Amino acid sequence: MNRGAALLVLAIAGSGAGLLAASGCSSDGTVLLLGGAGAADATATTDVTASLDAGAAPDGTTAPTGAAPGDGASEGAPADDAGPLTVTSMAILSAYGTPLQAAAGDALPLLVQLTLSNGVTVNAGQTGVVWVAPATVVAQDPYDAGASVLPETGAQPTAFFVQNAWRGSKPGTLFVVDRGTGSSPEITVAATYLDAGVSATVTILPDRVGDAAAGGQLFQRALLCYGCHGPTAGGSPAETLPDGAVALADGGPLFLLWGQAYPYPAPGLNAAPDSGHLAADRAWTEGMFAVGAQADIDNHGVALRSPMPQWAGANLGNGHTLDAQDFADLYAWLLTQTQ
Ligand code: HEC
Repeated sequence: MNRGAALLVLAIAGSGAGLLAASGCSSDGTVLLLGGAGAADATATTDVTASLDAGAAPDGTTAPTGAAPGDGASEGAPADDAGPLTVTSMAILSAYGTPLQAAAGDALPLLVQLTLSNGVTVNAGQTGVVWVAPATVVAQDPYDAGASVLPETGAQPTAFFVQNAWRGSKPGTLFVVDRGTGSSPEITVAATYLDAGVSATVTILPDRVGDAAAGGQLFQRALLCYGCHGPTAGGSPAETLPDGAVALADGGPLFLLWGQAYPYPAPGLNAAPDSGHLAADRAWTEGMFAVGAQADIDNHGVALRSPMPQWAGANLGNGHTLDAQDFADLYAWLLTQTQ
């Protein structure tokens, strides 16, 4: 424990977060399991182990997080520096512990699970994982947006990861927009953990059939979308200040959202004809509506600004996490609102 390499501490599985934390201690590269069965005496060296060792900062102070594939991490790794505990296999799993399947409109959080040579499994922290397939959409600046950055839907299912610097990314969350036209569609998801690759197949389930009454309950009562988007989802009206003055320097209107003034509205989401509202706009789909609300982007990949809440992983309080069915219900209700 004295060679000046960072001590790698594997957080035990459960939280799914924060695999790699480096202490200031020096070590010989031993992978230490906190609260686990203790380091076994296995000595086999895998590529993963070599990468772990090489990624550690020589001064023992910096966590080897975020190492990208092909960054030459294995160069310079001391040949004899492998710890006694090694990673023997990796798998991509649903963070919900559910089967790897999702319908259009689902946001499915994924994680990479490592199996160690003593049989213990731990979750790799997202900081060490790079999701390589399907492609990651980089959300556009809401104040300087260009053409759509989203993939076109087609015969194959459409899904992506999202990096959203404006709202905070949800690394490893797979957003499924469209099922495609195949009879049993699947999507291959792939990741690298340091230098090692892993992939898995996500089954794309049939589209959900929305229940407008249930959607109305969600919109009006459970999720309070109406508070900003209006009781019929007609959008937030522009407000006039008490003295009639226009507050913005450029003379633009102000919108009051839950008592706060914003220079942009919560747009109309219903199906009012000729309104340009979301559900009346053919460029939006049910799957895109659900993905947009959860990935904090619009249907061109432009980041949605605060105070639009972030709905991915939102819990209805009864242990139920919002899913494609809830968004199908919401969308079905939006289609019934035409004023
Ligand atoms: C606290 C206010 C607020 C609440 C509550 C809210 N939103 Fe929003 N929403 C906004 C704002 C503001 C925008 C526009 C953001 C922007 O222009 O960057 C928005 C945008 C959207 C968009 C994108 C619309 C478009 O045309 O680009 C969707 C979809 C959406 N909201 C759905 C919902 C749903 C569904 C709910 C309830 C589950 C909800 N919102 C609740 C404020 C809110």
